[in-house]
Amino acid sequence: MTIKKAVFPVGGMGTRFLPATKAIPKEMLPVVDKPLIQYAVEEAYAAGIREMIFVTGRHKRAIEDHFDTAYELEAELEAGNKRALLDLVHSIKPDDMDCVYVRQPRALGLGHAVLCAERLVGNEPFAVLLADDLMMGHNQAAGGATVLQQMVQAHERSPGTVLAVQDVPRADTRRYGVVDVRGVDTQLAEVFGMVEKPAPEVAPSTLAVAGRYILTPAVFESIRRQPRGAGGEIQLTDGIAALIGTEKVQAFRYAGTRYDCGSKEGFLEATIDLALAKPELAEAVMAHIRRRLAG
Ligand code: UTP
Repeated sequence: MTIKKAVFPVGGMGTRFLPATKAIPKEMLPVVDKPLIQYAVEEAYAAGIREMIFVTGRHKRAIEDHFDTAYELEAELEAGNKRALLDLVHSIKPDDMDCVYVRQPRALGLGHAVLCAERLVGNEPFAVLLADDLMMGHNQAAGGATVLQQMVQAHERSPGTVLAVQDVPRADTRRYGVVDVRGVDTQLAEVFGMVEKPAPEVAPSTLAVAGRYILTPAVFESIRRQPRGAGGEIQLTDGIAALIGTEKVQAFRYAGTRYDCGSKEGFLEATIDLALAKPELAEAVMAHIRRRLAG
C-alpha cells in the first residue's frame, strides 16, 4: 500500500533556538535560502505524497503563509517580469499538493502532536517527518532517492512500521532513541525493543532513530494507552515501542545524511554543507573558510 499522507509536527517551542524562535517557528529558519519545513515537504512530495498535514501551534502562522498564495509579491514579480523568481515562488506549493492544518492546543509532546492528526490521517499508514531533522539522501542532488522515498519503497516491500535509523558512535547513544535489532545486519531489520536515550554501556545497539517514520493507524490507540511522562508529555517512542510484538516494527538504515537542525551545531553543519553543494556559493564559502583557518 502506498503512503498518501504525511504529518509534520511543528508545534514544538524550539527553545534551543531562542531568541530566534520567539516569534518565528523553528521550522521557518532557513538553511541557505530555504526554510527547514520546505526541505521536509519536498522530501515527502518526492516520495509521491500529496497530502501534507501540519500539526501547528501558536506562533506558527508563518508556515501556513509560506505554503499559501502571496498575491502582492506575485503581482510585483509579474509586473517586473521576473519570471524565474515567480516560478520559484509558485514551486513552493505545486497544484497537485494539498496542505491541511490542525492545531495542537498545548505542546504536550510529539506523541500528542501525532494524535492531533488522527482524524485527518484516518485508517491508513502514513509518514511523519520532523522538519528539524534535515535529511539528504545519498546523491539526492544528482537524482538519488530522498530518505522518505527510500522508506516508502521499503514499506512497499515489507509493510508495517518503518523507522529511519542511522549508526551513531556508541558514546553518543544518550542523545537518541536506540533500537534493538538483535544482530541483524540487513538494511531493513525487525525491531525487538526501543530505548529512549540509553547510556552507552546498556544501549542495545548503536542504531539511533532519526526524524522520519512510516506508521500504521494502530499507533494512535497505542499512544493513547501510554502513561504521561514528565510535564504531561506524551511520547511517540512509547507508543511505537508498545506495538512491538503485536505488529511488525522495522528499522531502516537509510542511505544519506541527517542534520540535527534542532541544535545549533547541526544547523551550522547543514548550512555549510548545503552552501558548499551550491555551485554559485561553493567557491566563496570555501575561500572564506580557508582565510579563517589561515588565521
Ligand atoms: P523537540 O524535542 O525538538 O522540541 O521536538 P522543540 O520544542 O521543537 O525544540 P526545543 O527542544 O525546545 O528546542 C521534536 C519535534 O516534535 C515537534 C517539534 O515541533 C519538533 O518537530 N513537537 C514537539 C510538536 O509538534 N509538539 C510538541 O508538543 C513537541
